[in-house]
Order: sequence, then structure tokens, then C-alpha cells
Amino acid sequence: MNKKNYYLLACIWLLFLLITNLFSCQNKKKSMAKNDVWQDPHSYSNHQEVRVRHLDLNLEIDFERRILSGEVMLHLDYLKSTDSLVLDGSDLKIQYVTDDNNKPLSFVVSSPSAVKGQRIAIGLSGKETKWVKVKYQTSPDAEALQWIPAAQTAGKKHPYMFSQSQAILARSWVPIQDCPIVRFTYTARIKTDPKLLVLMSASGNSGSKNDSGVYSFEMRSAIPSYLMAIAAGDLSFSSISDRCGIYAEPVSLSKSVNEFAELEKMVVAAEALFGPYRWGRYDLLVLPPSFPFGGMENPRLTFLTPSVIVGDRSLTSLVAHELAHSWSGNLVTNASWNDFWLNEGFTVYCERRIMEELYGKDFSDMLEVLGYQDLKSELSDLKEQPRDTWLYLNLEERNPDDGMNDIAYEKGYFLLKHIEAHVGRVQFDTFLNHYFDRFAFQSVTTEEFIETVFEKICKGDSSKLKELELEHWIYTPGLPGDFDEPTSTLLTKAENNAKEFLNGSLDPAALKMFHPFQHIRFLQSLDSKMDSSGFDRLEKLYPYSQSQNPEILTAWLMSSLSVGYHKAFYPAKNLLMTTGRRKFLVPVYKALLSTEQGKIIAVSTYIEARNGYHSVAVSTLDKLLHP
Ligand code: BES
Ligand code: ZN
Repeated sequence: MNKKNYYLLACIWLLFLLITNLFSCQNKKKSMAKNDVWQDPHSYSNHQEVRVRHLDLNLEIDFERRILSGEVMLHLDYLKSTDSLVLDGSDLKIQYVTDDNNKPLSFVVSSPSAVKGQRIAIGLSGKETKWVKVKYQTSPDAEALQWIPAAQTAGKKHPYMFSQSQAILARSWVPIQDCPIVRFTYTARIKTDPKLLVLMSASGNSGSKNDSGVYSFEMRSAIPSYLMAIAAGDLSFSSISDRCGIYAEPVSLSKSVNEFAELEKMVVAAEALFGPYRWGRYDLLVLPPSFPFGGMENPRLTFLTPSVIVGDRSLTSLVAHELAHSWSGNLVTNASWNDFWLNEGFTVYCERRIMEELYGKDFSDMLEVLGYQDLKSELSDLKEQPRDTWLYLNLEERNPDDGMNDIAYEKGYFLLKHIEAHVGRVQFDTFLNHYFDRFAFQSVTTEEFIETVFEKICKGDSSKLKELELEHWIYTPGLPGDFDEPTSTLLTKAENNAKEFLNGSLDPAALKMFHPFQHIRFLQSLDSKMDSSGFDRLEKLYPYSQSQNPEILTAWLMSSLSVGYHKAFYPAKNLLMTTGRRKFLVPVYKALLSTEQGKIIAVSTYIEARNGYHSVAVSTLDKLLHP
């Protein structure tokens, strides 16, 4: 071979290597099969070697120092022989670690990393160590915990404390393998001020306080760490049915009971659709307004924002959502946060099925169209980050919170709707029930979902799988080109009413008849076509500035603030000072920031309000407002 040919061959070879390498990088972005040995991108834990299968917590709540202190006993299952147990932690003060012979064990805590917190490596004496005991206390700044002074509670007499562990904050209150692939059962003994009641995501919650201030709990089903939850405050209980009830501060209990009176009906509807409810009780805990989310599906005890208590039961789809997680998420859990859509996309689908069952298709159509609007604006916000619009996420080196947006919820929902449309509802329901059964109390990957569709829906026929275009939905950006936009009769009416308002022909009686979701769509449809005088005219037809429904108020603020409507400044400030729910804070701050005068109000309000927000909201808002 002459030199020239030799070079040519070498070049072709290099090119070949480059191309195959590119393909394999692309493949790596795909979800893993569960049995592959892999490291969760958000955990230090060595769960491939040894797993925590049960924990016994023994903690005391100290409101004065804003800490939890005590010990946790971690019971271990070995997958391989290993001489260390690696846990996740964040800002925990570890006093000592002992083994099942009460022998002290060595441990090393790494310096904190930007996303994952700290690696806690405990030296083990081989497979003989059945359990280890960690004596520790949390930091007053533990990200999962919010400590609310008495003055900021509804009753104003007693302090309140609650946890929010999802996604990777459990490690700030328990040293644990903090990744959703690891599941464990737990018991807990919690001591607090006898004037307060303690609740957990477990059995043992009692309707009344006891004089000792000591409460015991047990979670007998294996759950991932992000579903561990605790709350303590001046709480009372009211029963709704044999298995459902509401915990809230005494002053807000009756309003809450009225708002969620249909809770049992929801559980019945969900069981008819998805199979038996496997967690025993289903209770709700109404949190103080600073709770950063709408709801959190802590097993047996959903944590809920008070912002859905609006008096007319119009926002209870949020409860249907958290309830639906009892199947999608809590029973069948995403294997890693990259598979987050398996939790939320399925849950949005199940939520809308429950709502359709209870309130009819016109109602669930409204939810779907509003969800589609959210998806469209998310896709437009993420124009420059197309990778973040795949269903299967790549959150390596990133805070999982950053990647958790409407893509998982709404694109995930529309994928399931697409499959349902393709195979018919009856067959899809059979598939759903099979999926929840087959993977009950397990954590699953996106690839396992695809395999199950292949097996159960496509009956092993690859051409049928191709027709479904799952790979396209999951591993490419945006929505497929042939996506059919959803429609809702009730919301189309609101859109038409918005056109009539703009051309001056709207009959004001129309607005009075609206469901809150129609108000929202009406306001969205006015967007960018109004100036301040238009908002003055609107206010005379309907007093949006005084709406007691924060969903409606936020929709109104988003459009009125973006044109610098002065009369929106006070209601905006008032909302920002009285809620900590990120869903309202982010759009309202953003709308304020879009005008010069609004910016001044946003910055001064944030300085005043920041202290009262949960760390989850603060970390998002700090990026927006750079305090
Ligand atoms: N599990 C989520 C809340 C969550 C997600 C907490 C990611 C931390 C990280 C909960 O089920 C949820 O989706 N809540 C929504 C309500 C819903 C109706 C879309 C919320 O809080 O807005
Ligand atoms: Zn959810």
C-alpha cells in the first residue's frame, strides 16, 4: 500500500470512529434499563452494592433552634460485598455512627458540592453489619424544612414546621440514599412540644394531640426517600369518610372540609379507573401559605397549599392530581429524575381521567387546553434549550428542580393521550392497570415503560411500536409535526368573549357566568392586545383586581402588569406578600420585571418577602431577582 492510500484509509477509519462515537453518545442520553449498573446523577450513594431497606427514626423537633436532632438506624441489604455505606447528606451535623454491636464506625463527610450536597462514607466491617445507627442533627437552614413563626400561621399562636423532600432535599433532614431507585420502609418516633401535633407520610397520624408530645409512625410499604415527610403545628382533624379526612389549623379547618368534601368520591373514581388504592388512608394536610407547591403527594397524607381553598371547589383538580400520584409516582416511581415525566405525565393523565369521571368531559377538556397553553409557553421559553424539551431529561450536574417543568407534565400527558387515541381507551386502560400492577412498589425507567408498551400494546410487533413514534416523543425536542391541538367548547367560548371585549361588543353578563378556568382563558386571550385604558374598561365589567381566586388573579396580573397597568401594582404586591407558591410568584415577579416601574416594586417586595418564602422558592427567585 502506498503512503497516500495509507493516509486515506487512516482518515476513513478516523471518520468511522467519530461517527460511531457520536452515535454512542447519543445512545447514552437514552434511559437506562434498570439492571444496568448506574450511578444516579443526583446521589452519591453506593446502592449498587448495599441498600438501605428500612429505617428507624428517633427525632426531637426543636422549634427554638430550628433543628431536628436524634438518630436514625439504617437497616441494610447487601447486593455485593463492600466495606462502605455511602449516603447523601446536606448540612447535617453527624455526632457519631455505630454498628449493630454498638461499635463506633468511622465516617467521612465530603465538602458540599453545588448540586448533590455531601457524600457521607461510613466504614463497614463487611457483610456482617446488619444496621448502622447515625446520631445527628439538622442545620437551621436545612433546605427541606420550613420553620414558620407563630405570627405567620393562620391561628397566630403556635409555630409550624413542615418538610418538602422532593426532589433531592430529604438528605437535608435524614442521612439517606437519596435517590428514587432505593425504596425502604420506616418507623419513626418524634418528640415535640405537647401543644403541637406531629404528622408523617405514614400510618400513626392521630386526630388529636397527646400530653407527652411523643408520636409514633410506621410506613409499611417501601417508598423512595423523596416521599418521606413530616409536619408539626397546631393542627386539628376532621373526618370526611372512613378512610379520608383533613388536617388543618383549627381556624381554617371548616373551610377546608367544605372545599374538599368530595375527597372520598375522588378516591372511589380513581380506584375504578386504576385499581385498588393500596395505602390505607388518604388524608390531606393544609399547609401555611408559604408552602412552595400546589401539592405534594406524600403517601397517605398529601400536603396542600391553602391557595386552592377558594370557597367554590373550583380548584380541586389539584387534589385529584396528588391523589393520582398514589398510583403514578408513589406506587410506580421514576427510577431517576431524568425519568420525571413517568411520575408527572402519568399523573396529569390520571388526574384528568378522574376529573372527567366526576365532572364530565367539558370540564376535563378545559384542564387539557389550559395545560396545552402552559406547554406552548414552556416550549417557547425553552427555544434555546431544545434538549430540555425531550421527555427523557438530562439533568446531569444540574439541580433536578431546574429541569422540572411543564414538559414532563404536559408533553408527558399528551404522549399518553396519543397512545390512548391510537389504541382506544379500553385497551389503554388495560395497559395502565397492568403497568401499575406489574411495577407496584418499584421504580421504573423510561426504557422499561417503552418495553412494556411494546409487549402489552404492540404485542411484540416492532412495526406497531414504530407507528406509535414513542422514540420521537421521548428522545426528540418539542411536539411531533402532526400534533393535533386540543380544543374545549367552554374555553373557545371564553376566547370568543375576549374578541368581543376587544371590539366593544361583550355582554358583561357573560363574565359573571364564567367558571374560573374560563376567566383564565379569557384573560390569556386578551394578552398583548390591551393597554392601560383597556384594563380600566375591563375592571368596570369585572373586578379582577380583587379576585379572591389566586389562579384568576395571577392570570390578570400577568397581562395587566406586562403593560405596566398601575392599578395592578398593589394587588401584585399583596399576592407576593401573602403566598409562597412558586406557581404564582414566578409569573407575577416576571411580569413586574418587564416594566421599569414594576421592576422597582418587584425588587422592594422581594426584599421584604424573601424571608417568608421556602428555600425552594428562594432558589428560583434569587436567579430572577439577584438580591
Ligand atoms: N410532586 C409534585 C411537586 C414537586 C415536583 C415537588 C417536583 C418537587 C419537585 C406535585 O405532585 C405537583 O405536581 N404539584 C403541582 C400541582 C399540579 C396540579 C400540577 C404544583 O405544585 O403546582
Ligand atoms: Zn405531581
